[in-house]
Amino acid sequence: MKVKIEKLDHQGRGIARSEGLTIFVENALPEEVVEIELTKTKKKIAEARVIKWIQKSKNRVLPKCPYYDKCGGCHLMHLNIEEQNFYKEQKIKEILTRYGEVQEERIKTLIKNETPYYYRNKATFQVKEQLGFYQKKSYDIVSIDSCLIVHPKINEILAYLKKLSLKNITQIIVKSSDNGEYSMVVMETNGNVSKKSIQQVLEGHVTTLIINQEVVFGDGVIYEKMKDKVFQISPKSFFQVNTKMAVKLYEKVLEYASLTGKEIVYDLYCGTGTIGIFLSDKAKEVIGIEVNEDAILNANHNKEINQASNVTFYGGDVSKKIDELNQKPDVIVVDPPRAGLDIHTIQMLKKLNSKRIIYVSCDPMTLARDLKLLQENYEIKEVTPFDLFTHTYHVENVCLLERKLLWVL
Ligand SMILES: C[S@@+](CC[C@H](N)C(=O)[O-])C[C@H]1O[C@@H](n2cnc3c(N)ncnc32)[C@H](O)[C@@H]1O
Repeated sequence: MKVKIEKLDHQGRGIARSEGLTIFVENALPEEVVEIELTKTKKKIAEARVIKWIQKSKNRVLPKCPYYDKCGGCHLMHLNIEEQNFYKEQKIKEILTRYGEVQEERIKTLIKNETPYYYRNKATFQVKEQLGFYQKKSYDIVSIDSCLIVHPKINEILAYLKKLSLKNITQIIVKSSDNGEYSMVVMETNGNVSKKSIQQVLEGHVTTLIINQEVVFGDGVIYEKMKDKVFQISPKSFFQVNTKMAVKLYEKVLEYASLTGKEIVYDLYCGTGTIGIFLSDKAKEVIGIEVNEDAILNANHNKEINQASNVTFYGGDVSKKIDELNQKPDVIVVDPPRAGLDIHTIQMLKKLNSKRIIYVSCDPMTLARDLKLLQENYEIKEVTPFDLFTHTYHVENVCLLERKLLWVL
């Protein structure tokens, strides 16, 4: 079947229409004319792969990664970066205007990633006889020797990991600080491994090694510097994977917060306390909530090492803990996981009635859903998309909401 690709879908696949079908075509770009083979058909929707290109897009580039065809990590490396950015901006506009009822002019230009390669401070390697990443749509592994989007320090560590016997190892997470000074290897196994021989290979090349939650050497954490702040990170604590872009994102949160020194700020879903501590210099008081126990330990440590004495972190579920805080926040920052906000938290945000809400989101669909609900009481002033995940279809967004003036007659 010969089709012309109209546009990209939200996962970076080409969309074509033919014979009453909407067809999602892997690795096909807008304007391309391709010969396809259907791989799955369900009522009026089909998936397909390209057999032959009849006309290629001028925006197509040769992916630099030798594993790109198989590896499931990246989705857009065959598209030049300018067009990747354009696609991301259009995607956010489409989702937020359509599902979130956000006015298009409120959505700003995407903040670009100045370091489109070697930017990720974390890699999750899967191990099953081979060491690498999951293949596209599969739990099979593509063995890799280096990755073009992870920090060079992680590639350096990968070379040492490749020297290990992989028997009984199931997963290896590697994290590095942006300057490469701190790094950790976190291993999971399903049987005995020789900790001593792993230690011998890795010692001197990583600052800490953890096997099945036991610290084999080092202090079990790494430290990341962001401007004048330092953050301790444990293996299970969330931390933005693109440090340089995360600094820009937090600066946008600070700008949107418009702090004067008098404000009480809530930092909900605070992780290791990054946003709250970033804002603490300009706020009267900051209160953070986080459910992950390791992250809250990091957050409390980070409060100390950054001398942020006006910050208090509470461990617990936001939707429960928020009821217990007896404060009247002026600014609330929310940075939930992909699932977005639950309905009770949305109701509480409306009840708390803070002047501003800043919503940081890694999932535009749940962001759109939540913004629609919040618009009863809040006006969407501005949304800034950030490219934290170049070569993938993911986009991070920071959104400023301001309380509406509601006249009570
Ligand atoms: C996207 S991360 C944001 C972390 C932090 N703001 C940052 O920038 O590093 C979301 C965080 O929410 C936490 N989390 C998930 N569900 C939660 C809940 N119901 N209550 C509190 N925290 C939650 C996760 O553990 C994670 O640390």
